[in-house]
Amino acid sequence: MSFDLRLLLIILLPGWARPQSQPQPQPQLPDHVTRHMNRNVDPCRDFYKHACGKWASAHAGMGYRSAVGQLDFNYHEQLADLLEQPLTADQDEPRFVGLVRDYYAACRANHTVVQAMEVLARIIRKPSTSLEDLTVGLNTAFRVNILLDLHGSEMTELWVTLILRHIEDWDERETRRDAMTRGEFDRLWEHFPAAELEDKESFWRNVTTVEEFLLEHGEGEELAVLKGPPAFWMLPWPARLPDLWHFKRMLMVLTIHPAQFLLRYIYLRLSLIPDPASCQPWAIESNDCALQARELLGHPVVWLMEQHHPRLREDPVLQGLFGELKHRFGQKLRANRNQFSARVQAFLLAKLDRMLLRLSVLPQRGDKVSAIAEHYQHLRLNASDYFGNMLQLLDHHEAAGKRSPSFEERKGWLPIDRQNYGSFASPFFLPRANMLVVPLSLLDSRLYERGQADLLTYSTLGFILGHELTHGFGFHEVGRSQRGHLHPGVARELGRNQAFRRAKDCVADRFGPKHSEEKLADAMGLELSYSAYFDEAETDRSRNRSGTGTPEQRQLFFLNLAQFFCSSERHSDWRSYHGSDRRRVNDAMKAFPPFQEAFGCPAALRPKRKPCRLY
Ligand SMILES: *[C@@H]1O[C@H](CO)[C@@H](O)[C@H](O)[C@H]1NC(C)=O
Ligand SMILES: *[C@@H]1O[C@H](CO)[C@@H](O)[C@H](O)[C@H]1NC(C)=O
Ligand SMILES: *[C@@H]1O[C@H](CO)[C@@H](O)[C@H](O)[C@H]1NC(C)=O
Ligand SMILES: *[C@@H]1O[C@H](CO)[C@@H](O)[C@H](O)[C@H]1NC(C)=O
Ligand SMILES: [Zn+2]
Repeated sequence: MSFDLRLLLIILLPGWARPQSQPQPQPQLPDHVTRHMNRNVDPCRDFYKHACGKWASAHAGMGYRSAVGQLDFNYHEQLADLLEQPLTADQDEPRFVGLVRDYYAACRANHTVVQAMEVLARIIRKPSTSLEDLTVGLNTAFRVNILLDLHGSEMTELWVTLILRHIEDWDERETRRDAMTRGEFDRLWEHFPAAELEDKESFWRNVTTVEEFLLEHGEGEELAVLKGPPAFWMLPWPARLPDLWHFKRMLMVLTIHPAQFLLRYIYLRLSLIPDPASCQPWAIESNDCALQARELLGHPVVWLMEQHHPRLREDPVLQGLFGELKHRFGQKLRANRNQFSARVQAFLLAKLDRMLLRLSVLPQRGDKVSAIAEHYQHLRLNASDYFGNMLQLLDHHEAAGKRSPSFEERKGWLPIDRQNYGSFASPFFLPRANMLVVPLSLLDSRLYERGQADLLTYSTLGFILGHELTHGFGFHEVGRSQRGHLHPGVARELGRNQAFRRAKDCVADRFGPKHSEEKLADAMGLELSYSAYFDEAETDRSRNRSGTGTPEQRQLFFLNLAQFFCSSERHSDWRSYHGSDRRRVNDAMKAFPPFQEAFGCPAALRPKRKPCRLY
């Protein structure tokens, strides 16, 4: 959804420098790597573009926009396949799987304007409007096929997203782009479900204010990014595209009005449709319904998928890799280049030693099935009431969140969170549990195939795990102990340590304070995974290393790693702490001498300054 917002920002942001190209001799590489590469781009100048230059064209029109997004896409496809198959009589599933089936079935049914108005009527009659009500209301009114995230974004961003949508199948009968007349308002008020809850004249004043603002366009340059009127927009829309200033005013007026007023106003606008029952029904695609089910019924979905696509058996492979990365990081801690006191050193080593890797977000101890069943025992869904289900589930989450706000209290339930990490498949570090979590969906065949070459596993999963491990020792969380408790004494000593402070200044100076932590985690993730794979001096696991030292192997390591970040979004993740994918790959490689050696980069293209190092 939010990619459209980026489009808007592209016009406000300065352009990127164009890379210079230069052909390079290349070794034999596997097809799955070469098909995404653009060999005309010099790897020493822009490695991201060299590795990912053809990714976008190879995956055009596929329904995802990045290699990581492809993991989510595949997962939703598999889930949809499972849910499309009718249950056979001998299949015995827990009740919570039935909830997933009901949600999915209702989502896949045809939706009508009449149903949408019924659910809106229910919402606008409530004495107060919760965030959940607003989410369902806006999803319903604007026919958004994936859940709007109102917790995670500003209302302004949300309106930008809704305005920038362009889907071509808007039914003309539902379009009404001019202001509401007083006569229409009086007529609609007769049957308005919230009429007795509002002061009619004050409501009318607000309606006219909103509509005046929305219809203004100004005489400045039309905002080209808008292209035309939005899709599924029942509010007024100006005769010509607004200029930037008027567009901002449009956003402002939509943002300052309370949610309750907006939903009631939107209901009135929908009531302007002459004959709602005659409007075309609309459907939501299978992948989007699977995505919604995953967002709203995350743990039951994970359980169901694990039954059909077992990935937990990869645990030993991941634990082995994680152990090796920990071992490497332990060597660095013991080398103690920052000259920490013995107390701090012991604190950090104990933390490393106890740091856990967990696959899967489901509870690990006890009976998983009854734990999930208990959580959902009072929830009833209806296989033909899509909007009602959405509202019920959001309310259920809201109530559950209030009962036990933190995951620790939920006996080992781990959060499922796409919005904060960009993908469901992203691993994350939980500082208060000193635990690294890998969602099983990361182990998709595109990224990980059972028994694949170690080099492929180390270069991507090794990097990702090394990155997350480093978060336990970054500026924010290093002061937490092996059990996740804050240790002020250690934090104080680290704050005073000269080398630690220099590293912090060094990285903040180069990348800005917002990106410091992530840039260090990337640098360390690369160093740990690379040395775990190639560094034979310190063999800590018995692994078959034959042939791993050749330049071809080393190049493949970097290419495979970079391709984890391929995407077709020029400015992907511009807001995130990781920076754009391109910067992310290029910054990490630039600061890593073995990379330049592997590609024989000339001295002129090697960094002048030494990389910043925290450990
Ligand atoms: C949805 O409506 C279309 C026609 O608009 C119809 O062909 C299709 O069978 C309907 N699907 C369901 C599940 O009712
Ligand atoms: C009208 O809008 C103002 C904010 O501009 C708000 O404070 C007031 O509550 C609104 N009145 C109604 C009836 O919605
Ligand atoms: C399920 O929803 C449909 C459509 O909203 C409604 O007609 C039906 O009564 C509901 N069933 C139950 C058991 O609530
Ligand atoms: C190690 O790998 C090489 C090639 O990848 C293979 O030929 C050899 O048999 C392997 N050795 C063992 C002990 O698995
Ligand atoms: Zn990170």
